[in-house]
Amino acid sequence: MLDFHNHIIPGIDDGSTDIETSIALIKGLQDLGFTNFIFTPHTISDVHPNTPDTIAAGFDILNIAMQNNNMNIPHSYASEYMMDDMFHQKLRNKEPLLKLHNDKILVEFSYIQRPDHVENISFDMQIQGYEPILAHPERYIYYHNKWEYYYNHLKELGFELQLNLLSLTPYYGKEVQRIAHKMLKAGLFDFACTDIHHLRHLEALNSSFTKDSLAELFENYHLRNNELQA
Ligand SMILES: [Fe+2]
Repeated sequence: MLDFHNHIIPGIDDGSTDIETSIALIKGLQDLGFTNFIFTPHTISDVHPNTPDTIAAGFDILNIAMQNNNMNIPHSYASEYMMDDMFHQKLRNKEPLLKLHNDKILVEFSYIQRPDHVENISFDMQIQGYEPILAHPERYIYYHNKWEYYYNHLKELGFELQLNLLSLTPYYGKEVQRIAHKMLKAGLFDFACTDIHHLRHLEALNSSFTKDSLAELFENYHLRNNELQA
């Protein structure tokens, strides 16, 4: 099983702070059945202004540590792009974006404010051949009052939708949990990932899921993570 959304590369965003934590997170996720990883540090203007170079440098450090720990598992990197003005500017300048697999890129929206111009930005992505995967739609509470309408609209615009596994638990609040379950039953999710940042996330995952229950979830709801494997 592939996890293609996580913050395991140490020291370049609000995820893992050090290499020991990164290795512990990978080992913990392996115990839950994850066998492949694409690491996706944030790219957010001002807050985490990563570039393909800063992410590649962080990946190299993690890669060496994984080799030293005999972790011979497939792993690569991309980014989780905040769909902000800087992102739109990069698109218009045709700066290369880090892709998950083929033409798929991982994007997120602000938690606070509904994004303006979703239609324009998604159009600009598609004319450049990018296929956007939207991270944790269930966590954008400004969509909750008309969730069926908004999430179907995003799918019509070409977004595939990625569930955060912890949204199925009370971790991000009862309201997120409620919508996540409704969306899952409505068949709106294409993928599910950990979005793991730290050891508290690992503990929360371990207290709600087992290797078997996760495998069952992926099968029952036709979650297609493995299609993104290299
Ligand atoms: Fe994330």
